Amino acid sequence: MPKSTTSGLEDSYTEALPASRALFERARKIFPDGVTHDSRRMRPFPIYVERAEGALKWDADGNRYIDYWMGHGALLFGHNPPHVRDAVRDQIMRGTHYGASHAAEVEWGEWICRLVPCAERLRFTGTGTEATHMALRLARAFTGRVRVVKFAGHFHGWHEGVEIGVRAPYTAEAEAGQLAEVVDAVEVCPLNDLGAVRSALAGGDIAALIMEPTGPHFGTVPLTPGFLEGLREETRKAGTLLIFDEVVTGFRVAPGGAQAHSGVTPDLATFAKILAGGLPGGAVAGREDVMRHLETKATLEETHRTKIPHHGTFNANPLSAAAGCAMLESIADGEAIRAANDAAAALRRGMNEILASEKISWKVYGDHSDWKIFYNAASPPSGGEDQSVADVPWKRLNARHPEKSRALRQAVILHGIDFNGDRALVSTAHTPDIIAETLAGFASAVGMLKKEGVA
Ligand SMILES: Cc1ncc(COP(=O)(O)O)c(C=O)c1O
Repeated sequence: MPKSTTSGLEDSYTEALPASRALFERARKIFPDGVTHDSRRMRPFPIYVERAEGALKWDADGNRYIDYWMGHGALLFGHNPPHVRDAVRDQIMRGTHYGASHAAEVEWGEWICRLVPCAERLRFTGTGTEATHMALRLARAFTGRVRVVKFAGHFHGWHEGVEIGVRAPYTAEAEAGQLAEVVDAVEVCPLNDLGAVRSALAGGDIAALIMEPTGPHFGTVPLTPGFLEGLREETRKAGTLLIFDEVVTGFRVAPGGAQAHSGVTPDLATFAKILAGGLPGGAVAGREDVMRHLETKATLEETHRTKIPHHGTFNANPLSAAAGCAMLESIADGEAIRAANDAAAALRRGMNEILASEKISWKVYGDHSDWKIFYNAASPPSGGEDQSVADVPWKRLNARHPEKSRALRQAVILHGIDFNGDRALVSTAHTPDIIAETLAGFASAVGMLKKEGVA
């Protein structure tokens, strides 16, 4: 654990991490913001990680952290689980890219069709962003309609067709470099408001409704009971395709994703993260009649009118396929998902107990293998089980608190824990020892923030 040697959280952080600071000095000269992913930005600089194993990772200064990023959600068994690592190692010995079809892609696709209720056909993509891009194009091709509906705060990757209304003030307005025509084709609906969806669909011109099926950012604002069922009914009536973006929920909420968990089957679904076992990879899966738009037709004329071209150098890459097969096989019985859920529940309980005893008005909540911090609760939790945020208006619940989240992240890093400052993902590698260590570190970090006047 890095030692804090000066007063002031940021000074302590800076002093504790000289090797990371030195790497950042080089990085800022070549990368905008000094980072390669916006959510890895960190003031005064991010930590630079050198290796990882199980629930742990080590930075360039040799500090050990309990990791709650879990590969942006891609790791359900922690870092480097032997069964996935061995599958990748065996594959790498046989080549990394054949420029050809291969058996592992077939097996990988079969796993998805076996596990996921809507998956009659699928195509692999390089990322989740590519998958949502493809899903919307399929919906437009199938329905002959242009407009789509998405929800405020829901994130579907960074392509310009969906990077709309993700942040407050949640309006559909073109941002830097974004085509106004693309943004105009998207209607952003408020959360948990079936009436607003009904009005948006009323004109009969909506190709698709795309959503994260447990709410934005894996349930930062949980869905109200019956909402998914309502959406299924309304989209069916309107001839609109329902797309579940299961990039996070897929294989984390249940072996068949949020659609299996909820019993609501969408027309199309997108996957990435756990799908590829911690390596890059994504997929679009869904109804055979919709996916048919990726098929080449008999005549050239018909092909030009109806086929969506689909390329991608790394689609179904053999390494990702090997990791994906190992991963999907090992989550299929639901045991790993249950174990990660249980670990997350113990963390939520323990963290709320700490907040209750320290009388801090934050709340830790979540429904699956995750914990999130609501920094603006009306009062401290009454105890470990006081986790409900059902009464909080969605804009308040989804609001960011950058100062608090950065301060907490710095403080937990100084206590050997890393998460993104707002939300955390949990794996089967988060064992009772790791949980106890996390809770002790969280309690000290919170004490530090109280002294700093942040909590
Ligand atoms: C719900 C959701 N959809 C899509 C994406 C984009 O996936 P990728 O980062 O693989 O492009 C993400 C990434 O975090 C996501 O959380």
